[in-house]
Amino acid sequence: MNVLTVVGARPQFVKAFIVSRELRPQHNEVLVHTGQHYDEELSDIFFDELGIPEPDHNLGVGSESHAKQTAQMMVDLEELISEYQSDLVLCYGDTNSTLAAAIAASKMDVQLAHVEAGLRSFNRNMPEEVNRVLTDHASNILFTPSERALEQLKKEDITDNVRNVGDVMYDSLLWAHEKASKQSTILEDLNLINTDYLLATVHRPRNTDNRDRLGAILSPLIEDRRPVVFPAHPRTREQLSHYDLLKKAKDELILVDPLGYLDFVKLQAKANVIVTDSGGVQKEAFFLSTPCITLREETEWPETVEARGNILVGANSELIREALLDPPYPESDAQPYGDGAAASKIVQALEDLQ
Ligand code: UD1
Ligand code: UDP
Repeated sequence: MNVLTVVGARPQFVKAFIVSRELRPQHNEVLVHTGQHYDEELSDIFFDELGIPEPDHNLGVGSESHAKQTAQMMVDLEELISEYQSDLVLCYGDTNSTLAAAIAASKMDVQLAHVEAGLRSFNRNMPEEVNRVLTDHASNILFTPSERALEQLKKEDITDNVRNVGDVMYDSLLWAHEKASKQSTILEDLNLINTDYLLATVHRPRNTDNRDRLGAILSPLIEDRRPVVFPAHPRTREQLSHYDLLKKAKDELILVDPLGYLDFVKLQAKANVIVTDSGGVQKEAFFLSTPCITLREETEWPETVEARGNILVGANSELIREALLDPPYPESDAQPYGDGAAASKIVQALEDLQ
């Protein structure tokens, strides 16, 4: 098979590398990085750590409005799909890079496969929700991370070539957790050995681009007696500065640049509690049995809440405080996201469906 894989943002590097490792021994893969993320800490570090081969192409689109960013990716992807005469375009998740791959491929003579299909937050104000729905409806082959996602696709009349393979991020996490336990020195580096601490990430525009919400999230973190490690996405650092909150955050939190995957996984595994608005981090917390407080009103990963490992608190300071005092611990051994072998199931299914 000639596969053209499209990635562009941090979580996609984490999802794609584990599938590439299964795919490459038997098939030709052309790896295209759209350049949606371009900072060293959001991009190159993942390629180095995860042993991902250099992308065959980096489209270098950078940061733009949604339409400009997506359109530029589509133009370049269309050319590459033609040039390589790809049999299949493989895309991941719900970013603008995912949508660009979906729209470009679905109008060409090539199959489109979507990994992480069927997820819904049911909040159409999130750009990611629009990207997910459109990508699922444009895809020929869909891989869901859970039974619920498979059922959701059925409700939307998408039933052909759908496979529930489990979550590829579970595969990645299992690999990284073992490696990080041996290699990462982040706890020593941050003076956190045998110390209780919180880990927090915030990057959703709904939280970062609103002073009240960002302030309401920061207050309970600053009040907590435990150190708080806060790896700040560039968007978040910029907005902290814009709202005059940066100095306070620097003084009161352990504010660091975005971390590499291995260091971040190690921090997640050892944290008392994780506070986040990230999709991927909610799940990784769940896999690692670390309590998670989610700074959103809804989630596309409801199984983590049902298993009582995650609580949704929005940007409500009081609810965050309460959850920090009485964090959610998973009460069951439920494994809604498969067995950690999603990548090999994906490659097997792609071969079967050719
Ligand atoms: C994107 C995805 C989001 C995903 C996140 C993962 C979309 C619509 N959003 O959000 O679903 O959860 O990636 O981290 O696809 N910036 C830099 N350096 C970079 C990249 C971005 O400084 O390398 C800054 C720029 O100011 C940019 C802003 O961050 O305008 C937002 O970047 P963008 O890629 O548009 O969205 P993310 O918030 O990263
Ligand atoms: N991550 C990381 N370093 C960080 C923060 C997150 O390596 O400083 C990883 C995290 O382990 C997960 C992924 O990035 O695998 C999640 O990405 P992000 O939160 O940016 O996006 P989302 O999952 O919300 O789309």
